[in-house]
Amino acid sequence: MELKFRTPRGTKDILPDEVWKWHFVENRLRELFRAYRFEEIRTPVFEETELFARGIGQTTDIVQKEMYTFVDKGGKSFTLRPEMTASVMRAFLQHHLGEQRAVQKLYYLAPMFRQERPQAGRLRQFHQYGVEIIGTADASADAEVIVLAMEILHSLGVHGLTLKLNSVGCPRCRPVYRKVLQEELRPVLNRLCADCQKRYTTNPLRILDCKRETCRTLTEDVSPIEQYLCEDCRRHFGQVRSLLDGAGVAYVVDKRLVRGLDYYTRTAFEIVTDQLGSQDAVCGGGRYDLLSVELGAQEVPGVGFAAGMERLIALMEKLNVFPPAERKLDLYLIGLGEQARSWCFRQAQQLRRQGLVCELDYQGRSLKAQMRDANKLGAAFVIIVGEEELNRQAAVLKQMETGEQEEVPMPVLADALQKRITHLASAEA
Ligand code: HAM
Repeated sequence: MELKFRTPRGTKDILPDEVWKWHFVENRLRELFRAYRFEEIRTPVFEETELFARGIGQTTDIVQKEMYTFVDKGGKSFTLRPEMTASVMRAFLQHHLGEQRAVQKLYYLAPMFRQERPQAGRLRQFHQYGVEIIGTADASADAEVIVLAMEILHSLGVHGLTLKLNSVGCPRCRPVYRKVLQEELRPVLNRLCADCQKRYTTNPLRILDCKRETCRTLTEDVSPIEQYLCEDCRRHFGQVRSLLDGAGVAYVVDKRLVRGLDYYTRTAFEIVTDQLGSQDAVCGGGRYDLLSVELGAQEVPGVGFAAGMERLIALMEKLNVFPPAERKLDLYLIGLGEQARSWCFRQAQQLRRQGLVCELDYQGRSLKAQMRDANKLGAAFVIIVGEEELNRQAAVLKQMETGEQEEVPMPVLADALQKRITHLASAEA
């Protein structure tokens, strides 16, 4: 029968047989965030629509086409967050975090929502991990987030990545470059795609990252923004690059890298892979020194990145860098007969309290079926108790790998198990 309900288009269930991969990545992420002294921040899944419209920019694809916006019963417009930077900055300003410590280093790991056309690696609900350093314009902050972004991927065994770097200037130098770009593109304007023709007036820099082959060919020879950076932006870009060089992080300066969000100033970067087809960006970020001003507050500089969990996990699967799944079950308790089952039920609670991972049968199946189940779950030990064992106050303890079987008196069973499991763990280590 055709199912009536399924996941909405562009969303995914993360099922038990894959969730361990998420845990694996999340654990590594939290370790690295801790090492770099980033602290976690959690913000609401929805915010006032205006926050994103102003923060990300009215002319961006995200704001114009991709936001999940709704009007609540109070008549206010809210939007499911399409990204975290605007929310994190809002929280920084709202809670005066800068007063506690001028430079805040924050990280997040959370679902985001964008109504994009779903395809491999592009979802409508996806997860990002990311960091933001708010409160400093120093190039060392830019370099630190980039180094961390790369370090995370390397430590997860991901290789074959390219770090693309650019500077998108500031309100002093970018308008100059905008004009240059418009001048240079004027002769080919009517051969650009319809979107780019619109961008020519609204946001000409975005023409540079159009994916269409004709647009790319037509823009091949345009001058890079680097030539037009003001003195301060040029110096900053130089500092970021020399810090990365010093840290041994390889990058390519890519004049086409302009990013799809309007809040960026100066540093912009992306980490791409050649393994995932067209959705090749694993991570993207940059500096956003004027985002707070767009949000109506004083100037608070910031820099950060976000990376897509689904893309990272797909990439790790492709590269085959996940360790074998760890399936840990210390003990499977088999009770035969009602009384033995209820003894097993009580015993399991006690052993779990002791820290052992225990499982029981919930269907009153035969000994054979339960043994098969224990095997399938990878149980290290099985306890078998029937009427007779209950009367004798003893249980049959079987070590699954060796097949060794012994009878253990019930009063000392917990201790005996604990010893054997510790022994087994040290033998495996
Ligand atoms: P973004 O480039 O829009 O930047 O997204 C960052 C990453 O999120 C992408 O590189 C990609 O891996 C993942 N991603 C984006 N959209 C989707 C999607 N529809 N499906 C699956 N994965 C996706 C930002 O969001 C900025 N807030 C990054 C940042 C932080 N800049 C400064 N601080």
